[in-house]
Amino acid sequence: MRLKVNGSEYDLDVDIRTSLLDALRDHLALTGSKKGCDHGQCGACTVLIDGRRVNSCLTLAVMHEGDEITTIEGLGAPGHLHPMQESFLHHDGYQCGYCTPGQIVSAVGMLGEARDNWPSHASETLDGKVELTDAEISERMSGNLCRCSAYPNIVDAIRDASGKGAA
Ligand code: FES
Ligand code: FES
Repeated sequence: MRLKVNGSEYDLDVDIRTSLLDALRDHLALTGSKKGCDHGQCGACTVLIDGRRVNSCLTLAVMHEGDEITTIEGLGAPGHLHPMQESFLHHDGYQCGYCTPGQIVSAVGMLGEARDNWPSHASETLDGKVELTDAEISERMSGNLCRCSAYPNIVDAIRDASGKGAA
């Protein structure tokens, strides 16, 4: 099969049961996406697929031929960080860092959802403009767990980055 990841095409010979997360980590050596739970509970494995955030442990690699997959490595790297990465650094939005790649990728996807006015459980209305209050950010990031409980700084980082075109 063939996967397109961070703008590059890769030919892979994988068992059809291989999760996208395992394909990225074990076959492409893209270990930025983390395996926290391997069953959709923690968000550490979050990647963007055609711009939408997805738990890569819950989807099979073979389902994504032709899709544009973006991992934390594709968002930015030292020397040319993505605004969301810069903001996490600036606000100290982590402690051990294990959840951080998933938090950052999820935050970028989440800003796109908010920009498109997708309502969340915290939204006042279902069809209004989304204002990214702290409650909205927390609710929309609730799929990304942080065992170090860096949540206040994560919210600060996302709020700051949202005003700097980080979506
Ligand atoms: S490793 Fe995918 S959600 Fe936890
Ligand atoms: S920074 Fe340690 S789990 Fe989030």
